[in-house]
Amino acid sequence: MLNTISRYMPLLFAIMVFTMIFQFVESHWPQPAFIAALLTAIHSIAWYIAAAAILGWLVLLLGWLHAHDELPRFLQLRPLMDILDRLTNKQAVEEGFEKQDTATFIDAKSLSEALKQRVIGQNTVCDDIAAQIRRRLALSQRGKPVGVFLFAGPPGTGKTYLAKILAKELERPLLHLDMTQFSAGSHSLSQLLGMNKGYVGSDTYGKLTSGLQDTPNAVVLLDEIEKAHPDVLKAFLTAWNDGFITERSDSNQISTASAIFILTSNAGTQRLSEISIQFAQEPDAMREAAVNTLREAHFAPEVLNRIDRIFVFQPFKGLDIARVTALEIEDMIHGYGLEVADQGIDPDIILTLMARYQKLGKLGSSRDLIRAIEEQLADSLIEAKKAGHPKIKLQIDSEQRISAQAVTRPPTRE
Ligand SMILES: Nc1ncnc2c1ncn2[C@@H]1O[C@H](COP(=O)(O)OP(=O)(O)O)[C@@H](O)[C@H]1O
Ligand SMILES: [Mg+2]
Repeated sequence: MLNTISRYMPLLFAIMVFTMIFQFVESHWPQPAFIAALLTAIHSIAWYIAAAAILGWLVLLLGWLHAHDELPRFLQLRPLMDILDRLTNKQAVEEGFEKQDTATFIDAKSLSEALKQRVIGQNTVCDDIAAQIRRRLALSQRGKPVGVFLFAGPPGTGKTYLAKILAKELERPLLHLDMTQFSAGSHSLSQLLGMNKGYVGSDTYGKLTSGLQDTPNAVVLLDEIEKAHPDVLKAFLTAWNDGFITERSDSNQISTASAIFILTSNAGTQRLSEISIQFAQEPDAMREAAVNTLREAHFAPEVLNRIDRIFVFQPFKGLDIARVTALEIEDMIHGYGLEVADQGIDPDIILTLMARYQKLGKLGSSRDLIRAIEEQLADSLIEAKKAGHPKIKLQIDSEQRISAQAVTRPPTRE
């Protein structure tokens, strides 16, 4: 538009000059009224168009001067610029900010659903921990870990397992520390936090300090915390309260503020099982009773006071053990790079395993049973794998021998 007007600018000026001359002539030698009115109208239209064009040019000129930094200071728009535009790349900051937002606001519902898919019979715990983590990630306190959680309850109910699955679902690395290995005082501290300067081994970091330095957002699993030496517990209390832990070889402070700490404990098992059933519908009352039980079981009180939340695991009910058994068989078969066909596990296998599990009593670990059937199966699984059968089914004979059979043909080779 501006371009077209500009092109006809000489013509506009010519019209303006002509009409002006005519108006001058007319004021001295009057002409018929309608010609005078027509020429006056043409004159004013030409003026409006020319004025619009001149304004347009001015705006363009100012824009060009501004873009090329040629504008006098008082005309510059700089003072109104966003600080971020002036000092950094605002767009990049905006994009990063959006991403960070989605990273801290996780969807508690889909997290708890994902956990329940793998962890059987602990639905309340799964819902509760997903909600806790969501809340704590959104409102993280400065200089404190995201959370310090305790998983308490009978052995073999999935405490360690849930911690591992949780790390996987949160896409955080898992730093698994088996506290039974840290039951001796000073030796354990050196293993965790490194050797003091001048001692043999002071050139390498401790397990905890090196782990957190490499992956500050790890899920730190302190498995069977009641087995740890009191000095080790004291070191963890400092880590949780100060928001950092000191590597002893070079006094480097390593942040614990992005980590999630999960402690597991089998202390007070019998009473905790009862409590988890008695208060199944009252989570707050359950936690209170659990704290008292753990205190009575001589669980370190200072640790108990510092824990953000306790989750009480329930003993398995009904078909839960059958479900766990089936999942474990599936996992073991996945370990060989094979798949279980739909309904590929003979129900008698599950029933036999459950009977053995019950015979072993409460302390019996399902892992041992799975290991036992793995021994029986290993050869036929390796055969199936070698032959390229992806899907298998498991059968049991009258002498309780379990075997694997392929259900699909091997892929035809060209
Ligand atoms: N609730 C559960 N859901 C699914 N599998 C489970 C569950 N509990 C135990 N398991 C299986 O048993 C194994 C041992 O459980 P674990 O988590 O070590 O028990 P805990 O730490 O409570 O003593 C796990 O690796 C898992 O395969
Ligand atoms: Mg465990």
